[in-house]
Amino acid sequence: MKEASRSKAIEVAAIPASALDRRGKPHGPFRRLLRAFIHFFSYHVILSRRNVRTIPAAGFRLSVPPTVFHPRFFLSSEYFAEFIDRLDLSGKSVADIGTGSGILALAAARAGATNVLALDINPNAARSARQNAQANGFGNCVTAVCANLLDSLAPRPLFDVILASPPKHAGEPRDLADRGWHAGPQYRDLAALFEQAHERLKPGGSIYVMLSSDSDLDLLGRLINKAGLRARLVYERSFYIESMVLYELRPAAQHAVPL
Ligand SMILES: C[S@@+](CC[C@H](N)C(=O)[O-])C[C@H]1O[C@@H](n2cnc3c(N)ncnc32)[C@H](O)[C@@H]1O
Repeated sequence: MKEASRSKAIEVAAIPASALDRRGKPHGPFRRLLRAFIHFFSYHVILSRRNVRTIPAAGFRLSVPPTVFHPRFFLSSEYFAEFIDRLDLSGKSVADIGTGSGILALAAARAGATNVLALDINPNAARSARQNAQANGFGNCVTAVCANLLDSLAPRPLFDVILASPPKHAGEPRDLADRGWHAGPQYRDLAALFEQAHERLKPGGSIYVMLSSDSDLDLLGRLINKAGLRARLVYERSFYIESMVLYELRPAAQHAVPL
């Protein structure tokens, strides 16, 4: 598919309702139907496949077992990795929430991070991220664990950078594989994400979260604000039917200071 790509750095006080207006009406009947159609094919052809795929993605060679989010077919993974490549993470401590194959954790390690904690609710994903880190020469700095968000972590240490490319759509996941796509009704499975990330962020640190123009940005924006964070759109890639939008989140008080 030919891509119309653009990247932007737009300062906004919070994810505004106008961001939705700008991209059309993602929750109208036509969009809902189109999304259901795309999910039907994505689920049956990609998400619920039963074989292990070994693929090149973002300059890594990744093994992707059944139920693990495929970082090649779904464009968000390589877009986010490309953004991470531009960051200088030298000496930084990073957490990657919802790591899947580990692609973003590996990108963070390649960008210089000293240690990267890769977490996923799917045990197959945690195992695959660990194996992919070893296979790509980052086994010493990437640790992968199976966990629900940051629930099972001790309150310390804190992280300089927290990455998250969560499931982009509300709705009950059919199974483990579908947790890469659906986050439960009203984004139930992500409800605690932003507060937990805020609590574990070092002063001066940043959270980067990849969403979609088809996500319910109003609802997610409210969760972000409720967690005491403010969002700035730092990257956007469009491919006709959808845009992937990457936000940098920082504590509200900190955000008031000119960056
Ligand atoms: C959109 S995929 C992104 C995977 C990977 N970061 C990438 O970019 O290719 C979302 C991932 O979040 C995981 N996930 C969903 N809910 C989660 C939760 N509550 N805690 C941790 N991981 C979760 C899924 O299993 C899936 O691997």
